Amino acid sequence: MKVAVLGAAGGIGQALSLLLKTQLPAGSELSLYDVAPVVPGVAVDLSHIPTQVKVEGFGKDDLEKALTGADIVLIPAGVPRKPGMDRSDLFNINAGIVKTLVEGCADFCPEACISIITNPVNTTVAIAAETLKAKGKYNPAKLFGVTTLDVIRAETFVAEAKGLNCEDIVVPVIGGHSGTTILPLLSQVEGVEFTQEEIEKLTHRIQNAGTEVVEAKAGGGSATLSMGLAAARFCLSLVDALNGEEDVFEFTYVEGDGSDARFFAQPVLLGKDGVKEIFDYGELSDYEAKCKAEMLDGLRGDITLGEEFVNGQ
Ligand SMILES: NC(=O)c1ccc[n+]([C@@H]2O[C@H](COP(=O)([O-])OP(=O)(O)OC[C@H]3O[C@@H](n4cnc5c(N)ncnc54)[C@H](O)[C@@H]3O)[C@@H](O)[C@H]2O)c1
Repeated sequence: MKVAVLGAAGGIGQALSLLLKTQLPAGSELSLYDVAPVVPGVAVDLSHIPTQVKVEGFGKDDLEKALTGADIVLIPAGVPRKPGMDRSDLFNINAGIVKTLVEGCADFCPEACISIITNPVNTTVAIAAETLKAKGKYNPAKLFGVTTLDVIRAETFVAEAKGLNCEDIVVPVIGGHSGTTILPLLSQVEGVEFTQEEIEKLTHRIQNAGTEVVEAKAGGGSATLSMGLAAARFCLSLVDALNGEEDVFEFTYVEGDGSDARFFAQPVLLGKDGVKEIFDYGELSDYEAKCKAEMLDGLRGDITLGEEFVNGQ
C-alpha cells in the first residue's frame, strides 16, 4: 500500500505522517509531498522511527514521483484559519491548491482513493470532483471529504458531558464540514438520553469545535493534532477496506444519490474499490430534521461555488 500525503510538512501533515509511519501495515510506503523546503527533513526525521514503513520526502517539483503508484492520497495542503475567519474565507487560496494537486492525481495516480482535508471541505471536494471530471478520471467511489474530526469531537464531548467512556460512544455526524452544516445525530446515540437543552448545547459545541481551537491557538492555526488523528483513522480504515477487510464503516462526505445535496457526509461502507455502499442515516428527531432543512441551502451553495470554480460561472 502506498499512501501519499500532500501538504506533509504542515501541522496536520506532520501529525498525520507520524501516526501513519507508526500504524500503517508493514511493507507500506509513505510518500510525503510539500512545497515547503523542510519536507525532505520531515521524511528523514520520520525514517528514524523503527517500523517497516518506508518514508520518502518530495519537494515542489516532484509531485509526479510522490504520486506515482499511490493507492491513497490524503490532501491537507493549504492555509488554515486564523481567529475571526470562517472556513469559507480560505476559499481563495485553497481552491487553487486543491485543483492543482488533484490534477496531479488524475495524471499520475488516477486509480487512487483521494481524501480531501483542506478547507472549506464542503467546497474543495466539489472542486476535486469537477477537476477529475474535466480530466475524464472522476470515480465518485474514490473521492472523500474527511469529516472524521467532527465524529471524534462529538464522541469526546458526549462522553465528557455524560461521564462515560468515549470508546463506548458512537455519534453519527452527517451533512457537511462547516458551522451548521455539521449535524450530529444525538437522537441516535445508543443508551444515552439527553434533555433538549443538552442537545442544543452539544450540537452547538460540536459545530463550533474548530473555532474553539482556532481561538485558543490565537493566530497559530487550527486543529492539527486531533485532525492528524482523525485523518489517520480514516486512512487506516481505507487501508483495511482496500486490503479486503469487511464491515469497515466511516462517516465521510461523498457523492451519493443527491437527495439532500450532491455531496453529503453519511455512513459509508468502504470496500476494495473505495465506497462500497452508502447507507441511509436513519430517522431524524424533529430538531435534527429542522436543523437539516435550515442548513441545506448553505451546503448546496458551497458545493456550487466549487463546481463554478472549475467550470466557470
Ligand atoms: N477537514 C478537517 O476536518 C480539517 C480540520 C482542520 C484543518 N483543516 C484544514 O487543513 C488544511 C491544513 O491545515 P494545517 O493546520 O496543516 O496548515 P499548515 O499551514 O500547518 O500546513 C499546510 C501545508 O500545506 C503546504 N502547502 C501549501 N500549498 C501547497 C501545495 N500547492 N502543495 C503542497 N503543499 C502545499 C504548506 O507548505 C504547509 O506545509 C487547512 O486548509 C485547514 O483549514 C481541515
